[in-house]
Amino acid sequence: MIQRTKVTVVGAGNVGATCADVLATREVCNEVVLLDIKEGFAEGKALDIWETSPVNSYDTRTVGSTNDYAKTAGSDVVVITSGLPRKPGMSRDDLIATNAGIVKSVTEQILPHSPEAIIVIVSNPLDVMTYQAWKTAGLPDHRVVGMAGVLDTARYRAFLAEALDVSPKDIQAVLMGGHGDTMVPLPRYTTVGGIPVTEMIDADALEAIVNRTKKGGGEIVQLLGTSAWYAPGAAAAQMVEAIVKDQKRIFPCCARLTGQYGLSDLYLGVPVKLGAKGVEEIIELQLNEDEMALLHESAKAVKEVADVLDGMGV
Ligand code: NAI
Ligand code: 2OP
Repeated sequence: MIQRTKVTVVGAGNVGATCADVLATREVCNEVVLLDIKEGFAEGKALDIWETSPVNSYDTRTVGSTNDYAKTAGSDVVVITSGLPRKPGMSRDDLIATNAGIVKSVTEQILPHSPEAIIVIVSNPLDVMTYQAWKTAGLPDHRVVGMAGVLDTARYRAFLAEALDVSPKDIQAVLMGGHGDTMVPLPRYTTVGGIPVTEMIDADALEAIVNRTKKGGGEIVQLLGTSAWYAPGAAAAQMVEAIVKDQKRIFPCCARLTGQYGLSDLYLGVPVKLGAKGVEEIIELQLNEDEMALLHESAKAVKEVADVLDGMGV
């Protein structure tokens, strides 16, 4: 039988609508359902995206839904972007209480209609919202994954491409840790067309790019008064594509650790193999002492927020 593929994006705001647009324009799946609680909002965004299909020449059907989860039935992947974004002066962690309730309620409503779905979390604070979804869903670890590393490495690669005046396509990089200021970019694992980046750029310039990457989300919040959406939406869509097409891409994703890197019972950014089963493998790099120390510092920061979440009893 010919298999049709369906993806639901919950939250038709800036990130969700962008993700749906990229999924449709790139024909990642046959159908995209956008769902939001705001009356008519998802229908309007979905219709607007669908009306680009003749111009952009694709046939992925885009459908909107105001909180009617029946329309999401049989989704292969569900992306959860619902929740508040940051305003200037707010950290991602300030969003915890509101967004945890939203992520819980969405996860509970999605699963009865799409019991086989892989769930991709985008809502912030990302690492603990992914943990919240995993706790609520009661699914195996590999079926709940968070999007942050693809975005954070995209920022790092874009900044490097600009500094080196090269194509971003030729920059390969991996970054680990939580989605916040403690994230751990790894210059030792960064290459430009296969050449170690340290042979292409001096140490001070590279350090400045690493620091800019760590604050990359905040830079956009300062400029726009709300958080980014083009790069986050595209990053989430790239993860969906890896899953729907079973591409087995190697991406930094927020995955549940069970002893890897000496860490357990924690959702944190690590390199993974992403395919039809979701997180098919967590890749353990041979980190040096400094890198491992930074990763553990980041894990500590994420764990503190996870403990706050657990204490709230959401
Ligand atoms: P937005 O405000 O534009 O959109 C959020 C949407 O969620 C709104 O349309 C709202 O009506 C909807 N919503 C709220 N409660 C809902 C519910 N219970 N069910 C369905 N829909 C609901 O916000 P934006 O910019 O799209 O950001 C969304 C989330 O993604 C925020 O938490 C933001 O911090 C996070 N984010 C995460 C990134 C990452 O790298 N993981 C990057 C960028 C944003
Ligand atoms: C970002 O990194 C705020 O998490 C959001 O753009």
